[in-house]
Amino acid sequence: MEVVNCTADVVAANGTEHKYSRESELKAFDETKAGVKGLVDAGINHVPRIFSRPTDDLQDSVSSSKEGQFKFPIIDMDGMDKDHVRRQIVDQVRDASETWGFFQVVNHGIPDTVMNEMLEGVRKFYEQDTEVKKQWYTRNNLTRFLYNSNFDLFSAPVANWRDTFYCTMAPAAPNPEELPEACRDVLVNYSEHVMKLGRSLFEVLSEALGLNRNHLKDIGCADGLATLGHYYPACPEPERAIGTSKHADNDFITVLMQDHIGGLQVLHQNHWVNVPPVPGALVINIGDFMQIISNDKFISAEHRVLASQIGPRISVACFFTTGVFASSKIYEPIKELLSEENPPKYRAFTVKEFLDLFFAKGLDGNSALLHFKK
Ligand code: OGA
Ligand code: NI
Repeated sequence: MEVVNCTADVVAANGTEHKYSRESELKAFDETKAGVKGLVDAGINHVPRIFSRPTDDLQDSVSSSKEGQFKFPIIDMDGMDKDHVRRQIVDQVRDASETWGFFQVVNHGIPDTVMNEMLEGVRKFYEQDTEVKKQWYTRNNLTRFLYNSNFDLFSAPVANWRDTFYCTMAPAAPNPEELPEACRDVLVNYSEHVMKLGRSLFEVLSEALGLNRNHLKDIGCADGLATLGHYYPACPEPERAIGTSKHADNDFITVLMQDHIGGLQVLHQNHWVNVPPVPGALVINIGDFMQIISNDKFISAEHRVLASQIGPRISVACFFTTGVFASSKIYEPIKELLSEENPPKYRAFTVKEFLDLFFAKGLDGNSALLHFKK
Protein backbone atom coordinates (compact mmCIF):
# COMPACT_ATOMS: atom_id res chain seq x y z
CA MET A 1 0.00 0.00 0.00
CA GLU A 2 2.75 2.34 0.95
CA VAL A 3 4.41 1.87 -2.40
CA VAL A 4 1.19 2.69 -4.28
CA ASN A 5 0.69 5.88 -2.27
CA CYS A 6 4.22 6.87 -2.83
CA THR A 7 3.87 6.44 -6.61
CA ALA A 8 0.69 8.51 -6.64
CA ASP A 9 2.45 11.31 -4.79
CA VAL A 10 5.28 11.35 -7.28
CA VAL A 11 2.83 11.44 -10.18
CA ALA A 12 0.92 14.31 -8.58
CA ALA A 13 4.09 16.19 -7.83
CA ASN A 14 5.39 15.62 -11.32
CA GLY A 15 2.10 16.64 -12.84
CA THR A 16 2.15 20.01 -11.09
CA GLU A 17 5.79 20.55 -11.76
CA HIS A 18 5.41 19.59 -15.41
CA LYS A 19 2.61 22.10 -15.96
CA TYR A 20 4.59 24.84 -14.26
CA SER A 21 7.86 24.20 -16.05
CA ARG A 22 6.30 23.82 -19.49
CA GLU A 23 5.16 27.46 -19.39
CA SER A 24 8.55 28.69 -18.28
CA GLU A 25 10.40 26.43 -20.71
CA LEU A 26 8.29 27.76 -23.59
CA LYS A 27 9.02 31.30 -22.50
CA ALA A 28 12.74 30.66 -22.15
CA PHE A 29 12.83 29.07 -25.61
CA ASP A 30 10.90 31.97 -27.14
CA GLU A 31 13.22 34.51 -25.55
CA THR A 32 16.29 33.02 -27.23
CA LYS A 33 14.76 34.27 -30.53
CA ALA A 34 17.02 31.70 -32.17
CA GLY A 35 14.33 29.09 -32.76
CA VAL A 36 14.86 25.35 -33.09
CA LYS A 37 17.95 26.06 -35.14
CA GLY A 38 19.42 27.76 -32.07
CA LEU A 39 18.96 24.57 -30.03
CA VAL A 40 20.62 22.44 -32.68
CA ASP A 41 23.48 24.95 -33.08
CA ALA A 42 24.02 24.73 -29.31
CA GLY A 43 24.58 21.00 -29.77
CA ILE A 44 21.62 19.46 -27.94
CA ASN A 45 21.26 15.75 -28.59
CA HIS A 46 17.90 15.20 -26.92
CA VAL A 47 14.52 16.63 -27.81
CA PRO A 48 13.45 19.03 -25.00
CA ARG A 49 10.11 18.05 -23.52
CA ILE A 50 8.20 21.04 -24.92
CA PHE A 51 8.58 19.22 -28.28
CA SER A 52 7.66 15.75 -27.02
CA ARG A 53 4.82 14.20 -28.96
CA PRO A 54 2.10 12.76 -26.71
CA THR A 55 2.12 8.98 -26.55
CA ASP A 56 -1.33 8.65 -28.11
CA ASP A 57 -0.01 10.48 -31.14
CA LEU A 58 2.94 8.10 -31.37
CA GLN A 59 0.63 5.12 -31.26
CA ASP A 60 -1.28 6.66 -34.15
CA SER A 61 -4.46 4.76 -34.92
CA VAL A 62 -4.05 5.85 -38.51
CA SER A 63 -1.84 3.48 -40.45
CA SER A 64 0.89 4.48 -42.81
CA SER A 65 0.31 3.50 -46.40
CA LYS A 66 2.33 0.72 -47.92
CA GLU A 67 4.73 1.70 -50.67
CA GLY A 68 2.77 1.97 -53.92
CA GLN A 69 -0.66 1.48 -52.31
CA PHE A 70 -1.82 4.94 -53.41
CA LYS A 71 -0.72 6.88 -56.43
CA PHE A 72 -0.23 10.52 -55.43
CA PRO A 73 -1.70 12.61 -58.29
CA ILE A 74 0.74 14.45 -60.53
CA ILE A 75 -0.62 16.78 -63.21
CA ASP A 76 1.27 18.03 -66.25
CA MET A 77 0.21 21.59 -67.09
CA ASP A 78 2.03 21.63 -70.41
CA GLY A 79 -0.18 22.60 -73.38
CA MET A 80 -2.91 24.24 -71.30
CA ASP A 81 -3.62 26.67 -74.12
CA LYS A 82 -4.94 23.82 -76.29
CA ASP A 83 -8.61 23.11 -75.67
CA HIS A 84 -8.45 19.32 -75.56
CA VAL A 85 -5.41 19.36 -73.23
CA ARG A 86 -7.08 21.92 -70.99
CA ARG A 87 -10.19 19.75 -70.66
CA GLN A 88 -8.01 16.84 -69.49
CA ILE A 89 -6.23 19.05 -66.98
CA VAL A 90 -9.55 20.36 -65.64
CA ASP A 91 -10.73 16.73 -65.20
CA GLN A 92 -7.55 15.73 -63.39
CA VAL A 93 -7.66 18.75 -61.11
CA ARG A 94 -11.33 18.08 -60.29
CA ASP A 95 -10.64 14.45 -59.51
CA ALA A 96 -7.61 15.22 -57.31
CA SER A 97 -9.37 18.08 -55.50
CA GLU A 98 -12.37 15.89 -54.72
CA THR A 99 -10.54 12.78 -53.59
CA TRP A 100 -7.18 13.95 -52.23
CA GLY A 101 -7.37 17.72 -51.79
CA PHE A 102 -3.74 17.53 -52.90
CA PHE A 103 -1.83 17.15 -56.16
CA GLN A 104 1.52 18.02 -57.67
CA VAL A 105 1.98 20.03 -60.85
CA VAL A 106 4.84 19.93 -63.34
CA ASN A 107 5.43 22.27 -66.31
CA HIS A 108 3.73 24.96 -64.26
CA GLY A 109 5.75 27.80 -65.74
CA ILE A 110 7.96 28.73 -62.76
CA PRO A 111 11.59 28.28 -63.85
CA ASP A 112 13.81 25.90 -61.86
CA THR A 113 16.28 28.73 -61.28
CA VAL A 114 13.64 30.87 -59.56
CA MET A 115 12.58 27.92 -57.40
CA ASN A 116 16.13 27.05 -56.38
CA GLU A 117 16.96 30.68 -55.65
CA MET A 118 13.93 30.86 -53.37
CA LEU A 119 15.02 27.78 -51.39
CA GLU A 120 18.51 29.30 -51.14
CA GLY A 121 17.02 32.61 -49.98
CA VAL A 122 15.22 30.84 -47.14
CA ARG A 123 18.42 29.04 -46.19
CA LYS A 124 20.35 32.33 -46.21
CA PHE A 125 17.78 33.96 -43.97
CA TYR A 126 18.02 31.23 -41.34
CA GLU A 127 21.76 30.69 -41.61
CA GLN A 128 22.73 34.36 -41.40
CA ASP A 129 24.23 35.88 -38.24
CA THR A 130 21.85 35.04 -35.37
CA GLU A 131 22.03 38.56 -33.96
CA VAL A 132 20.83 40.03 -37.26
CA LYS A 133 18.14 37.37 -37.65
CA LYS A 134 16.84 37.99 -34.12
CA GLN A 135 15.82 41.49 -35.09
CA TRP A 136 13.04 39.95 -37.20
CA TYR A 137 11.72 37.74 -34.40
CA THR A 138 8.23 38.81 -33.35
CA ARG A 139 4.81 37.56 -32.32
CA ASN A 140 3.02 40.61 -33.64
CA ASN A 141 0.76 39.16 -36.35
CA LEU A 142 0.36 42.53 -38.00
CA THR A 143 4.04 42.74 -38.93
CA ARG A 144 4.80 42.48 -42.63
CA PHE A 145 7.64 39.98 -42.17
CA LEU A 146 7.16 37.78 -39.16
CA TYR A 147 9.86 35.33 -38.07
CA ASN A 148 9.42 33.06 -35.06
CA SER A 149 9.36 29.43 -34.04
CA ASN A 150 5.85 28.00 -33.74
CA PHE A 151 3.18 30.67 -34.34
CA ASP A 152 1.09 28.74 -31.79
CA LEU A 153 3.91 28.08 -29.27
CA PHE A 154 1.80 29.05 -26.26
CA SER A 155 -1.53 27.53 -27.38
CA ALA A 156 -0.69 24.23 -29.12
CA PRO A 157 -0.22 21.02 -27.12
CA VAL A 158 3.18 20.24 -28.71
CA ALA A 159 5.87 22.55 -30.09
CA ASN A 160 6.97 21.69 -33.61
CA TRP A 161 10.57 21.06 -34.71
CA ARG A 162 10.47 24.00 -37.10
CA ASP A 163 11.20 27.71 -37.52
CA THR A 164 9.07 29.81 -39.86
CA PHE A 165 8.81 33.21 -41.45
CA TYR A 166 5.47 34.55 -42.68
CA CYS A 167 5.47 37.42 -45.14
CA THR A 168 2.42 39.15 -46.58
CA MET A 169 3.05 39.79 -50.30
CA ALA A 170 -0.41 40.85 -51.56
CA PRO A 171 -2.83 42.59 -51.89
CA ALA A 172 -0.58 45.35 -50.49
CA ALA A 173 2.93 44.85 -51.88
CA PRO A 174 5.79 45.22 -49.39
CA ASN A 175 8.33 48.03 -49.46
CA PRO A 176 11.81 46.57 -49.92
CA GLU A 177 12.99 47.78 -46.51
CA GLU A 178 10.23 45.77 -44.83
CA LEU A 179 11.98 42.57 -45.99
CA PRO A 180 15.28 41.05 -44.81
CA GLU A 181 18.13 41.49 -47.22
CA ALA A 182 18.97 37.77 -47.15
CA CYS A 183 15.90 36.89 -49.23
CA ARG A 184 14.42 40.25 -50.26
CA ASP A 185 14.64 40.12 -54.06
CA VAL A 186 13.86 36.46 -54.48
CA LEU A 187 10.87 36.68 -52.13
CA VAL A 188 9.34 39.33 -54.38
CA ASN A 189 10.27 37.54 -57.59
CA TYR A 190 9.14 34.05 -56.52
CA SER A 191 5.87 35.38 -55.08
CA GLU A 192 5.08 37.16 -58.35
CA HIS A 193 5.54 33.88 -60.22
CA VAL A 194 3.31 32.09 -57.73
CA MET A 195 0.60 34.77 -58.08
CA LYS A 196 0.59 34.22 -61.83
CA LEU A 197 0.42 30.43 -61.42
CA GLY A 198 -2.32 30.90 -58.83
CA ARG A 199 -4.45 32.90 -61.23
CA SER A 200 -4.31 30.12 -63.79
CA LEU A 201 -4.99 27.48 -61.13
CA PHE A 202 -8.06 29.40 -59.94
CA GLU A 203 -9.28 29.47 -63.56
CA VAL A 204 -8.87 25.70 -63.80
CA LEU A 205 -10.50 25.18 -60.40
CA SER A 206 -13.45 27.38 -61.45
CA GLU A 207 -13.97 25.26 -64.54
CA ALA A 208 -13.56 22.10 -62.47
CA LEU A 209 -16.46 23.33 -60.32
CA GLY A 210 -18.53 23.96 -63.45
CA LEU A 211 -18.31 27.73 -63.04
CA ASN A 212 -17.30 30.49 -65.38
CA ARG A 213 -13.50 30.51 -65.76
CA ASN A 214 -13.11 33.81 -63.90
CA HIS A 215 -15.45 33.05 -61.02
CA LEU A 216 -12.92 32.34 -58.25
CA LYS A 217 -10.70 35.24 -59.31
CA ASP A 218 -13.72 37.55 -59.43
CA ILE A 219 -14.66 36.78 -55.82
CA GLY A 220 -11.12 37.58 -54.73
CA CYS A 221 -9.50 34.15 -54.17
CA ALA A 222 -6.31 35.25 -55.97
CA ASP A 223 -6.05 38.69 -54.35
CA GLY A 224 -4.01 37.89 -51.25
CA LEU A 225 -0.78 35.98 -50.85
CA ALA A 226 1.35 35.11 -47.83
CA THR A 227 4.71 33.46 -48.45
CA LEU A 228 6.04 31.26 -45.64
CA GLY A 229 9.61 30.02 -45.42
CA HIS A 230 9.98 26.92 -43.21
CA TYR A 231 13.25 25.61 -41.82
CA TYR A 232 13.24 22.14 -40.24
CA PRO A 233 16.62 21.56 -38.57
CA ALA A 234 17.99 18.02 -38.35
CA CYS A 235 16.45 16.37 -35.30
CA PRO A 236 18.54 14.17 -32.97
CA GLU A 237 15.49 12.04 -31.96
CA PRO A 238 13.05 12.34 -34.88
CA GLU A 239 10.58 9.79 -33.51
CA ARG A 240 10.05 11.91 -30.38
CA ALA A 241 9.21 15.14 -32.25
CA ILE A 242 7.09 16.36 -35.16
CA GLY A 243 8.08 18.87 -37.86
CA THR A 244 4.55 20.19 -38.35
CA SER A 245 1.56 18.79 -36.46
CA LYS A 246 -1.46 17.50 -38.35
CA HIS A 247 -3.47 20.41 -39.75
CA ALA A 248 -5.38 21.74 -42.76
CA ASP A 249 -4.48 25.10 -44.30
CA ASN A 250 -6.47 28.24 -43.58
CA ASP A 251 -6.59 29.64 -47.11
CA PHE A 252 -8.12 29.05 -50.56
CA ILE A 253 -5.21 27.07 -51.95
CA THR A 254 -1.55 26.57 -51.05
CA VAL A 255 1.33 26.33 -53.52
CA LEU A 256 4.06 24.42 -51.70
CA MET A 257 7.65 23.88 -52.74
CA GLN A 258 9.55 21.28 -50.75
CA ASP A 259 13.21 20.41 -51.13
CA HIS A 260 14.55 16.90 -51.81
CA ILE A 261 14.36 15.60 -48.22
CA GLY A 262 10.70 14.58 -47.93
CA GLY A 263 8.64 14.08 -44.78
CA LEU A 264 5.39 15.72 -45.91
CA GLN A 265 2.42 13.37 -45.53
CA VAL A 266 -1.24 13.76 -46.42
CA LEU A 267 -4.10 11.96 -44.73
CA HIS A 268 -5.86 10.01 -47.48
CA GLN A 269 -8.50 7.33 -46.87
CA ASN A 270 -7.34 7.16 -43.26
CA HIS A 271 -3.72 6.51 -44.25
CA TRP A 272 -0.71 8.78 -44.00
CA VAL A 273 0.61 8.92 -47.56
CA ASN A 274 4.03 10.40 -48.37
CA VAL A 275 4.06 13.33 -50.76
CA PRO A 276 7.19 12.39 -52.69
CA PRO A 277 9.64 15.17 -53.52
CA VAL A 278 9.70 15.50 -57.33
CA PRO A 279 12.38 17.82 -58.75
CA GLY A 280 10.77 20.89 -60.31
CA ALA A 281 7.26 20.00 -59.14
CA LEU A 282 5.04 22.10 -56.88
CA VAL A 283 2.51 20.69 -54.45
CA ILE A 284 -0.95 22.26 -54.63
CA ASN A 285 -3.47 21.75 -51.88
CA ILE A 286 -7.02 22.86 -51.26
CA GLY A 287 -7.46 24.96 -48.11
CA ASP A 288 -10.35 25.31 -45.68
CA PHE A 289 -11.81 28.41 -47.42
CA MET A 290 -12.07 26.50 -50.69
CA GLN A 291 -13.72 23.55 -49.00
CA ILE A 292 -16.34 25.93 -47.56
CA ILE A 293 -17.08 27.90 -50.73
CA SER A 294 -17.23 24.67 -52.78
CA ASN A 295 -19.65 23.32 -50.17
CA ASP A 296 -17.45 20.24 -49.54
CA LYS A 297 -17.00 19.35 -53.22
CA PHE A 298 -13.28 19.99 -52.83
CA ILE A 299 -11.60 18.82 -49.66
CA SER A 300 -9.05 20.51 -47.49
CA ALA A 301 -6.99 17.48 -46.50
CA GLU A 302 -5.07 17.20 -43.27
CA HIS A 303 -1.33 16.89 -43.57
CA ARG A 304 1.80 16.94 -41.43
CA VAL A 305 5.58 16.94 -41.68
CA LEU A 306 7.69 14.32 -39.91
CA ALA A 307 10.88 15.32 -38.16
CA SER A 308 14.03 13.82 -39.63
CA GLN A 309 17.59 13.12 -38.66
CA ILE A 310 18.52 14.59 -42.04
CA GLY A 311 18.35 18.31 -42.39
CA PRO A 312 17.78 21.12 -42.53
CA ARG A 313 14.70 20.54 -44.65
CA ILE A 314 13.47 23.71 -46.35
CA SER A 315 10.03 24.38 -47.78
CA VAL A 316 8.18 27.43 -49.04
CA ALA A 317 4.40 27.55 -48.64
CA CYS A 318 2.44 30.22 -50.50
CA PHE A 319 -0.99 30.75 -48.99
CA PHE A 320 -3.67 32.35 -51.13
CA THR A 321 -5.42 34.41 -48.48
CA THR A 322 -5.83 38.05 -47.63
CA GLY A 323 -4.63 36.98 -44.19
CA VAL A 324 -4.43 39.20 -41.16
CA PHE A 325 -4.91 42.31 -43.26
CA ALA A 326 -8.29 40.86 -44.16
CA SER A 327 -11.02 42.96 -45.62
CA SER A 328 -14.62 42.77 -44.50
CA LYS A 329 -15.37 40.63 -47.56
CA ILE A 330 -17.74 37.78 -46.75
CA TYR A 331 -17.29 34.24 -48.06
CA GLU A 332 -19.90 31.50 -48.17
CA PRO A 333 -20.81 28.45 -50.26
CA ILE A 334 -21.06 29.61 -53.89
CA LYS A 335 -24.74 30.09 -54.87
CA GLU A 336 -24.29 28.51 -58.31
CA LEU A 337 -23.24 25.23 -56.67
CA LEU A 338 -26.26 25.00 -54.39
CA SER A 339 -29.64 23.42 -54.96
CA GLU A 340 -32.47 21.91 -52.97
CA GLU A 341 -30.53 18.63 -52.80
CA ASN A 342 -27.29 20.47 -52.00
CA PRO A 343 -28.09 23.13 -49.41
CA PRO A 344 -25.26 25.21 -47.90
CA LYS A 345 -23.28 23.23 -45.31
CA TYR A 346 -21.47 26.28 -43.92
CA ARG A 347 -22.36 29.72 -42.69
CA ALA A 348 -20.82 32.87 -44.11
CA PHE A 349 -17.49 34.05 -42.64
CA THR A 350 -14.82 36.69 -43.02
CA VAL A 351 -11.16 35.73 -43.41
CA LYS A 352 -10.35 37.63 -40.22
CA GLU A 353 -12.99 35.73 -38.25
CA PHE A 354 -11.53 32.44 -39.45
CA LEU A 355 -7.95 33.43 -38.65
CA ASP A 356 -8.80 34.69 -35.16
CA LEU A 357 -10.15 31.24 -34.40
CA PHE A 358 -7.24 29.44 -36.10
CA PHE A 359 -4.59 31.40 -34.21
CA ALA A 360 -6.36 30.99 -30.88
CA LYS A 361 -6.57 27.23 -31.14
CA GLY A 362 -3.23 26.57 -32.86
CA LEU A 363 -2.39 23.22 -34.45
CA ASP A 364 -4.31 21.21 -31.86
CA GLY A 365 -5.24 18.36 -34.21
CA ASN A 366 -8.84 19.53 -34.72
CA SER A 367 -10.33 20.99 -37.89
CA ALA A 368 -11.30 24.67 -37.80
CA LEU A 369 -14.03 23.93 -40.36
CA LEU A 370 -16.37 22.47 -37.76
CA HIS A 371 -16.82 25.92 -36.23
CA PHE A 372 -18.36 27.16 -39.47
CA LYS A 373 -20.68 24.20 -40.13
CA LYS A 374 -24.37 25.04 -40.30
C1 OGA B 1 2.13 24.58 -44.24
C2 OGA B 1 2.61 23.20 -44.50
C3 OGA B 1 4.36 21.75 -45.29
C4 OGA B 1 5.84 21.73 -45.49
O1 OGA B 1 2.95 25.53 -44.33
O2 OGA B 1 0.93 24.73 -43.96
O3 OGA B 1 1.84 22.29 -44.40
O4 OGA B 1 6.29 20.86 -46.23
N1 OGA B 1 3.88 23.02 -44.88
O5 OGA B 1 6.52 22.55 -44.90
NI1 NI C 1 -0.16 23.06 -44.34
